[in-house]
Amino acid sequence: MEKIVILTGAGISAESGLGTFRDEGGLWAQHRIEDVATPEGFARNPALVHAFYNARRVQAAKAKPNDAHIALARLQRDWPGEVVIVTQNVDSLHEAGGAENVVHMHGLLAGALCASCGHRWTSPPEMAVAEPCPACAAPTARPDVVWFGEMPYYMDAIYDHLAGAAFFASIGTSGQVYPAAAFVHEARLSGAQTIELNLDPSDGASVFDQVILGPATETVPRWVDGLLGSH
Ligand code: OAD
Repeated sequence: MEKIVILTGAGISAESGLGTFRDEGGLWAQHRIEDVATPEGFARNPALVHAFYNARRVQAAKAKPNDAHIALARLQRDWPGEVVIVTQNVDSLHEAGGAENVVHMHGLLAGALCASCGHRWTSPPEMAVAEPCPACAAPTARPDVVWFGEMPYYMDAIYDHLAGAAFFASIGTSGQVYPAAAFVHEARLSGAQTIELNLDPSDGASVFDQVILGPATETVPRWVDGLLGSH
């Protein structure tokens, strides 16, 4: 059966009250990437980095999935083939909306990672500097999120999914961060039909077969209805 691969970004969670990175007043207007989202920034000032992610963890824990998250979960349930959601988001709103099979390529706010031994565990709501790893006791706990300069997670599995995709959709992402921004090219090479659903055209909008502009809570349920109606 025809496989659908969906890439999501911060825009799908915007209407759940979580700010995006690059829209006006977004996170990267308030914080310097090199301070809060790089391994070097964490080495320089772990307290600042933990404070940034602690604040985002608290905010994400309060957020509710919106109609776009819920529609994608419905597509997963009702589509006769496989529907893989690959997200750049570190919130868990896809899962809260009922989705399964979600690939968190940039990690998860809900996760902690030991920088020494690689052990992973569920992060407390607030992480502290030099927290000991429950497995090896090294004081090197960090958020299990991918920073600039680090390799995103699950890349082999993602490229395998893209190679088998009949449809590829990119939702709520500006297309400014690689490798995610290049997934549309991979999908096209595999012969997939490609569609972008975004508030504004992304940097790579011209590459897609179709672009639908508007808020995700409106465009995504409509797109899902159309797909399910046509099969
Ligand atoms: P951006 O902030 O770069 O882009 C958000 C996109 O969502 C923009 O293209 C907006 O037009 C769109 N958008 C905003 N509100 C929307 C809405 N209600 N409905 C639909 N679209 C909407 O966020 P990302 O593309 O996710 O990585 O950013 C990619 C990566 O850059 C993030 O995962 C993060 C960041 O730095 C790391 O931290 C490693």
